[in-house]
Amino acid sequence: MRLPIVAGNWKLNGSRSSATTLAREIAASPVAGVEVVICPVAVHLDAVSTDIKDTAVKLGAQNAAAQESGAFTGEISAQMLSEYGCEYVIIGHSERRSLFGENEEACANRFSAVLAAGLTPIFCVGESLEDRESGNTMKVVEKQLQAVFSVAGASVFERAVIAYEPVWAIGTGKTATPEQAQEVHQFIRGLVASRDENSAQAVRILYGGSVNPGNASELFAKDDIDGGLIGGAALKSADFLSVCNAARL
Ligand code: 13P
Repeated sequence: MRLPIVAGNWKLNGSRSSATTLAREIAASPVAGVEVVICPVAVHLDAVSTDIKDTAVKLGAQNAAAQESGAFTGEISAQMLSEYGCEYVIIGHSERRSLFGENEEACANRFSAVLAAGLTPIFCVGESLEDRESGNTMKVVEKQLQAVFSVAGASVFERAVIAYEPVWAIGTGKTATPEQAQEVHQFIRGLVASRDENSAQAVRILYGGSVNPGNASELFAKDDIDGGLIGGAALKSADFLSVCNAARL
């Protein structure tokens, strides 16, 4: 049985004080039977790690460098993130890919660096509306995962999390139906199985894209959906906790 995960991706939101308030509210309502992860902006990691110390809530970052150290202005290494108590790092979010030019190889290199530092990558994949409408969803997702297999090896997903986030569902209020999501999740698990069966059984595959308290239960009820990566609804503690509850085993 895979333990579900619900991870809140706070993106570029929150002041130091609002981040602290949100983290404390989430940590104050423990949800059993689900791993709860929050991913604040990097400059708030230190404050938030103190807020959730000795609670079940885990800390994640929104990206990590492919390098350990050196002349890479603006980057933060996975090793540095681990010093602040991060256990998870989101890699290859569609906003990183489309707005900041991170290509498949760059994402795969960042993924490897996170694993090498002993942290768990949450590796995002997903198709654009154009890809979906032209029937290329599976092809796009396969290419994104193939980059990781090529750089990091066949069995790496035993130590990682995958998030399927259709780009057309992110921040649009337009969520994939549970059937649409399950179809892609099943495909992803099959693809991982074709490289390594143990990884396929172990890997948790999260759905992301306009998940909210109203649609979470139906999505999480599907066999291959092991939780969610949550954007907008992760910014209000009541909504986020309600989504966490929907994912409980
Ligand atoms: P929304 O939940 O706001 O659609 O964002 C999803 C997302 O991008 C999480 O990483």
